[in-house]
Amino acid sequence: MPGKKTAIITGASGGIGSGLVTRFLEEGYNVVATSHNANAKLVDSRSLAVLVGDIGKQQTADDAVGAAIKNFGAVDVLVNTAGIFLTKPFTDFTVEDFNALVSTNLLGFFYMTQRAVKEMLKQKSGCVVSITAALADRPIAGTNGSISMITKGGLNSATMNLATEYAKAGIRFNAVAPGVVNTPMHPDDPNESSPQPTMKKATVEDITDAVIYLVQAGHVSGEILHVDGAAPARRW
Ligand SMILES: NC(=O)c1ccc[n+]([C@@H]2O[C@H](COP(=O)([O-])OP(=O)(O)OC[C@H]3O[C@@H](n4cnc5c(N)ncnc54)[C@H](OP(=O)(O)O)[C@@H]3O)[C@@H](O)[C@H]2O)c1
Repeated sequence: MPGKKTAIITGASGGIGSGLVTRFLEEGYNVVATSHNANAKLVDSRSLAVLVGDIGKQQTADDAVGAAIKNFGAVDVLVNTAGIFLTKPFTDFTVEDFNALVSTNLLGFFYMTQRAVKEMLKQKSGCVVSITAALADRPIAGTNGSISMITKGGLNSATMNLATEYAKAGIRFNAVAPGVVNTPMHPDDPNESSPQPTMKKATVEDITDAVIYLVQAGHVSGEILHVDGAAPARRW
């Protein structure tokens, strides 16, 4: 619908992404929702355009921004949610793992953000929030995500650099760095036995609250907002 702000949300079929789609619609945004596979819960409406595509391909970014402009006339907010997370001992990571992480987590960010920023520059305003991971700079013994964190830590660095590069253009860049969130990426494992106390997982709402804060906080840019309940401090 014209007259409303428009947000593009990637990874929209997932636990956090679908929560973001619902929240942005509730907040009165038009939403372009994109993910790898269709999600039966996401259906086109006057305020929602649903797209499918591999985020590691340039075409997916072109399609998402094209849909935002065609349907709603602008791109005000981009939330980079699409991502994969692999954990294994460092010596077990393969080149295939590395390439998959780079394609989805880094190329996806690059294509989508570059395309969105080109639109935001025309309107001299915009806001990009990327979902990274607390593990990138708050490692926890026993959670071996070294290669995954090359990508998430890289996104944190890119966020801080882009915030500076585009400050005068009125475009803000921030990241939300979750700990463990209660989504299909981290299902409860009833067989999990650990001598350590179980950490409280964040809810999807904890993450959507943080994203909405960053979208609304007009003087906040270049920040990495951890939403992990101070997990390392509680665990060790
Ligand atoms: N859950 C956690 O504990 C946690 C912790 C820290 C950070 N995060 C980050 O939060 C973000 C969302 O995680 P989540 O928990 O919501 O995970 P999720 O339920 O597995 O959702 C991941 C989303 O990314 C999409 N995606 C994956 N590969 C893609 C590709 N090649 N092209 C397009 N879309 C692709 C998925 O689409 P399809 O379903 O269609 O494949 C899905 O929509 C991720 O970036 C993740 O790294 C999550």
